[in-house]
Parts: sequence; structure tokens; C-alpha cells
Amino acid sequence: MGKIVINGGRRLNGELKIQGSKNAVLPILAACVLCDGECVLKNCPEISDVRYACEIIQTLGGKTSRTGETLIIDTRQINHSEINKALMHKMRSSVMFLGPILARTGKAVIYTPGGCEIGSRPIDLHIKALKSLGASVIEEGDKISCYCQYTVTAKIHLPFPSVGATENVMMASVFSKGTVVISNPAMEPEIVELQNFINAMGGRVHGAGTKTIVIEGVEHLKGCEYEITGDRIVCATYLFGVAIAGGKTRFTGVKPEDLEAVLSVLREMGCDVSACSSSITIQSSGELKGVRKVQTQVFPGFPTDAQAPLTAALCVASGITVVHEEIFENRFRHIEELVRMGADITVENRIAIICGVPCLYGTTVHACELRGAGALVVAGLGARGKTIVEGTEYLDRGYDKMEQALERLGADIIRM
Ligand code: UD1
Repeated sequence: MGKIVINGGRRLNGELKIQGSKNAVLPILAACVLCDGECVLKNCPEISDVRYACEIIQTLGGKTSRTGETLIIDTRQINHSEINKALMHKMRSSVMFLGPILARTGKAVIYTPGGCEIGSRPIDLHIKALKSLGASVIEEGDKISCYCQYTVTAKIHLPFPSVGATENVMMASVFSKGTVVISNPAMEPEIVELQNFINAMGGRVHGAGTKTIVIEGVEHLKGCEYEITGDRIVCATYLFGVAIAGGKTRFTGVKPEDLEAVLSVLREMGCDVSACSSSITIQSSGELKGVRKVQTQVFPGFPTDAQAPLTAALCVASGITVVHEEIFENRFRHIEELVRMGADITVENRIAIICGVPCLYGTTVHACELRGAGALVVAGLGARGKTIVEGTEYLDRGYDKMEQALERLGADIIRM
């Protein structure tokens, strides 16, 4: 098991280009299965979830190769419809392949997906929506088999704007013999990215980012070149890192409008934050203030994925802050570890009450999911003494060589 060792208290200064977005690239890799050609994806982060997605493409008959930050995905020879259990269990996003495999081959066999333990993560909305598109679905234990020669005109209302279900329906519908309308879809920026990518391959999708998405069926999709956008959650994590450690840093390669909710909380915490077209600059003294209640919400609300890094920074913010985790039922597992570093936090169901303490103290802490791991690194950056974060395999699911990025900004951080 890998470890990251941080000697806290170093200010973070300079400039850092934010890696490509995990949540954008994963559905885009799944969407490559739809095309009968070669896609060149630029700015792809080197993270384990991307590696697993490439393994899935290979098991389906496709080819993948990486040169630096560019992935080349050749899906001309796709000839399998099943993802084995072991691969399905490696990450939650394996479920994103259900829609594209079905659309490409008329059949898809998958198993209930794995992923970070942040509460129950059913896929009932995905299945129900695929049935509305005309698919027949057989569920036997953890095995899910779907059949559909072609999807038909349909109106799909999602009772909750699930990101994954929205993406699955968009991809399952691209070859529809008619028009598919999704009402109440997720409006996250990654949905817009997926739409742009499908359209770059020759698809006809519009409305992503609004309350209605319309997919007009096309006959086939061709290969294309596409650049993955910067990762708003990685950027949020590093912003909270600068907030707690102090310093002045400019992050480039991100869209500030995708981070409005995070930037507004940082300003309330006392940080000086400015943004221009594709960069965000933060200046922090390291003296932070508690804020009004923060509630995680679907976009454009405060992102659940940034909740753990936020709670880490709030540990040393004066006063009391209440954080309400609205999206996932068990997303406070990092808090026990923050308490071991000296934080004063009480958790009641989905609410964390954080009483700011003067400082955190380094100790050995254990990560048990991706964003919780990011939060422990944030805490370590601001803590007195040495913090050892165990469980770096979780970090590596979504943060591309995090220790190198933070070291460039002046952190004393090393991977053991
Ligand atoms: C995606 C993101 C994840 C983020 C989440 C919420 C990717 C690869 N992952 O995950 O980082 O935390 O959005 O912004 O993009 N739900 C159901 N039934 C379903 C589907 C979802 O009940 O069929 C529930 C989930 O249990 C959860 C909530 O809806 O409580 C949100 O899930 P969803 O939006 O689907 O998240 P993911 O797509 O899994």
C-alpha cells in the first residue's frame, strides 16, 4: 500500500496547469465505443480509472495507446458485448459502457459496478431509462443483460438528475430511429463535454447543460480529435490546499464558471479569489473563517466531490460551519481521520458540524475513498508536523501524480 508523506506548513505559490477531467474523460472513453474509427483524446489524465476504462475497451475488441497526455482509441474492431465481473468491480464508471455497448452491438452484458464506498449507489435509473428506450433487461443476481436492436423515439424523465444515468441514455440513444428527449437530466459540465464529443463524432445532441436534452438519431459516428477539459474537482482540491496552507497560486486550464459555488465559499472563508477566462488565482493568509451552511447539490450547487477537501480546510476556520451532504449517504469517512489530526467535528447522519481549531497536527491517517484521500492531503498541507496518508491507491484513481503537482508549488511532499 502506497503512502504520501507531507511536512505541513509550507506555503503554496506559483502556477499549475490542472490535469484533464476524470469525470469528463471516463464517459468520453465509453462513447468511443460508439464510433467506428479512431479517436484522438488530448489532455487525458494518467489515473487508474482511465487505465481501467482502456482495459474495458480492449476486452470489447478495441485498441488503446497512450503517448504522453494523448490517448488514441481505435474501436473499429469492437466485437464483444460483455464486460467481465473483475473489470466491472474496479470502478463505478464501468457502468457507463452499458449504453454505448448496447447501441453499438445490440446487446450488453455487465455486472453491478464497483467504485468508492460512499454509500449505496444503485443503477435503477439507468436500467429504467434503457427500458423506456425499448431495451429488454434481464437481471440475474449481479449480472445485467440488455438487448435492443435499435432504440426508438422516447421521452425519458429522470426523477433525479443522475449524472451517470443521463450519460448512459445520451450514449444509448445516438443511433435511435427517431428522437429521444431527456427531461430533468443532470446539468453538470461533464454532460456538456459528452455532448460536444458525441457531436464531434458526427452525432446530433443538443440541450446539454439545460433542463432538456434532445438526441436525434444518426446512422453512424466517425473518429475525431478532442481535448479533455480541465478537472474542476482537482482544481477545487488544490484551491482548498492553498486556502489552508496559505500562499498565492494561479491554476490554469479550468473554466472558472464551472467552479462558481466553490469560489464563492472560498471567498467567504477569507481567501482572495480572482478568475479570468481559463484560470483562477487564489491568495490566502492561511487564516480562514467559517462560513454559512454549505450543502452539496447537483450542478450548479456546491459539488459533492469537493465536500471532503472543503471539510479539511474548514477544520482550522474560525467559528462553526455546518456541512450537509445531500447527494451521497456515506461521504464523511474522512472525518474520523481529520479528528485524529485534532479537528473538532461531529457527524449526525448527513450533517457535519465543524468547530474550527487553531491548527491540525500531523499523524498517520488512512484514506478509504478518492475525494477523502484528497481531503487528507489538504489537511496535511496545513498541519503542523508530518502527516502520512496511507491508501494512495484511492488518490491515484483521480489525481494525476498529485505529489509532483503540489511539490511544484512548494509543498514538502513525497511518495513512499
Ligand atoms: C458522478 C460522478 C461522481 C459524482 C456524482 C455526483 C463520474 C464518473 N462520477 O457519479 O464523481 O460524485 O456524479 O455529482 O462522473 N442514484 C440512484 N439511482 C441511479 C443512479 C444514481 O439512486 O440509478 C443516486 C446515487 O445513489 C446518488 C445520486 O443518485 O445518491 C447521484 O448519483 P449520480 O449523479 O448518478 O452519480 P454518478 O454518475 O455515479
